[in-house]
Formats: sequence, structure tokens, C-alpha cells
Amino acid sequence: MAAKGVSTRRGLRLKIRVLYSKPLDSERCLTLMPLMRSLLFVPGNRADMLGKALTLQPDVYIPDMEDSVPVNQKPKARETIASSLSKLASVGIPIIVRVNRIDSGLMEADLAAVVNSHINGVSVGKTGSGKDIRDIGDVLHTLERERGMLSESIKIIPWIETALGVQNVYEICSASPRVIAVAFGAEDFTADMGVERTNDGRETDYARNAVSIAAKAAGVIAFDTPYVRFQDTDGLRLDCIDARSRGFKGKFAIHPNQVEVINQTFLPTKSEIEEAQTIVKAYDEAASDGRGTLALGGKMIDEPVVARARGILQVAKTAQDSGQV
Ligand code: COA
Ligand code: MG
Repeated sequence: MAAKGVSTRRGLRLKIRVLYSKPLDSERCLTLMPLMRSLLFVPGNRADMLGKALTLQPDVYIPDMEDSVPVNQKPKARETIASSLSKLASVGIPIIVRVNRIDSGLMEADLAAVVNSHINGVSVGKTGSGKDIRDIGDVLHTLERERGMLSESIKIIPWIETALGVQNVYEICSASPRVIAVAFGAEDFTADMGVERTNDGRETDYARNAVSIAAKAAGVIAFDTPYVRFQDTDGLRLDCIDARSRGFKGKFAIHPNQVEVINQTFLPTKSEIEEAQTIVKAYDEAASDGRGTLALGGKMIDEPVVARARGILQVAKTAQDSGQV
């Protein structure tokens, strides 16, 4: 079954406007969704789940060869994903395959199994430096050339999930035009730090903020860590609201139940849209009267407030135009 809005999405691919704010250039996102809110992991050794994914509507599919696949199943995951790609691609939802990390000894074979025109990019765990990205880029470059693909057509979403990765996150995000987004992974990060993973997640505060701010500075999109209590929908919603407030534009899902909650929460709410409309209208009226600031409901409205309001309206409009609501 094809996902709703897929034909509209295909049409949009060539005239995508990237709205996650300015420095993202459209070439880098040419083949991706206007909004990427939910990125669904599907364990690569599970043909049944890859089949199930065809009936689901995340904004991005993430067939996984890394943490959800036991070591003795890695070859099976490669084969299973490779043979699922044409069907998955026919749904019209972008595909980013997560491969094993650069020093695993597995990455080259993982990439060789899946780099073709069905996929939009690859995601790589535990990246620690700009050099890691350039090394991955070199492998991709060779595969693209051998396979007659456009150079740099395969994008990269690196995972920041070590202390070193957090320290170098801006360098990682800026290392190549292939990098269109960056992912924060809380489970591995806390393991690397040797700290407890708590319910309120305070131990990840600094790292999450660092990733989202560096992503913005580098002009790429930030995605937040999966929420592992997959049956706790209320907890997921609160975690998404928190991530959105830090500047993340989307979140990884590990279970079909999570997709809709993530998709909703990473869009402006009805009251946010109404408030933004009121602000823009009042500001435009004041501006035509020659005033650059005004009072609205006891709050000062000036240029940055209006810029935020216009950003909210832009995201809402793009969601509407793209059929992603
Ligand atoms: N993608 C596609 N389908 C999935 C899925 C996923 N990530 N997770 C569950 N499903 C399917 C199940 O196969 C089942 O299908 P069915 O109704 O046709 O039998 C249905 O959705 C309901 O699943 P459920 O029984 O509630 O969950 P489960 O116990 O089978 O699996 C997990 C729970 C957590 C093991 C599973 O969701 C999973 O493996 N998620 C991905 C984990 C991952 O990728 N981790 C790495 C990144 S951190
Ligand atoms: Mg990880």
C-alpha cells in the first residue's frame, strides 16, 4: 500500500524548499522530504518488519544494520535490506540505511550492499571527527563512480553518541556537503560517559543542546535520539516537545506506534499557528504605521518575535502543501 500524499511528495522532490532555516541549500536535500520529523528504524535482518514498513508512514525509513542486528546476523541484514530496497523505494518515502561504524570492519561491505539509486543516504554510528566523514565520503565516492551514480548523491547522517563526537560536532556537521543532518544518540552517549540513563534525561542536556546548536550553525538538520519506552506514548510526546524546544526537527522511531506522535509533535500546534498569525498581522499593521515594536497581550513584539512567528507559519504551510499532515 502506498503512503498517503506520496505522489504529492514525489512531485515536490524537484522543487523542494528547505525551511529548516536559511543556510541549508536545496541541492543537499533535493531528494528528501520537505519535513523530516519521524525516522523509523527497521532491523535489517527482519524481512517481516521491512515488509510491515511498506504499510507505515514515517517521513524517512531507516533500515538498520547496526545496533538492532546481532553480529552473527550482519551478512543476513545486508542481503535482506538489499533485496527490500526497490519495494521500499516504490513507496516514495526517503530511505537512509544505517550502516556499521567506520572502525567496525563492516562498514565497507555494508555500503557496497546498498549504495544504489534506491537510497537517499546512509547513517553512520559513533562518528568522532571530520576525518571520519571524509573517509566515509571516499568510500561512497568510489561506489558512486563504479555504479554510474551522480557524485555526492548519497547523503550522510552521522550519529553523535560519544564524548568525542560531542566535542567535534560542528566539525563533523561541516565536513562534507553530503552531511544533510545529524543524529544524537543518548544510549551510546551515556554508555560512553559511564553515567546512568535517567528518566528525565538530565545527563544528556549539554550534549543534546550542543548537537542541535552545532547543527544549526553548520546549516544541517538535527534529529533526536529514539525514545526507548515504546509503549509510553505520553512520555514520548513530552520527550518530543522537549527536543523541539531545543531545536531538533525530528526524532527517530523504533516502533510503528511512535510515528504518528512524532509527526504531530514536530509540527506547530493549532494555538501556536493562531498566535503566530496574530503576531504577524499586528506587526505588519504597526509597521505600516511606522512602528517597529508594539505591545500585544502585555508582551513586546519586535523583529525577532515576528521572525519566529513567520518561521512557524512557514513550517505549517510546507506541511500543508506537501501533504504531510
Ligand atoms: N519496523 C517495522 N515494523 C515493526 C517495528 C519496526 N521498527 N517494530 C515492530 N514492528 C511490527 C511488528 O513486527 C509487529 O508486526 P505484526 O503486527 O505484523 O506482527 C507490529 O509492528 C507490532 O509490534 P509489537 O509486537 O508491538 O512489537 P515487537 O515486540 O514485535 O517489537 C521491538 C518491539 C522494540 C523489539 C521492535 O519494535 C524493534 O525491533 N524496533 C526497532 C529497534 C531498533 O531498530 N533499534 C535500533 C535503533 S536504537
Ligand atoms: Mg548507537
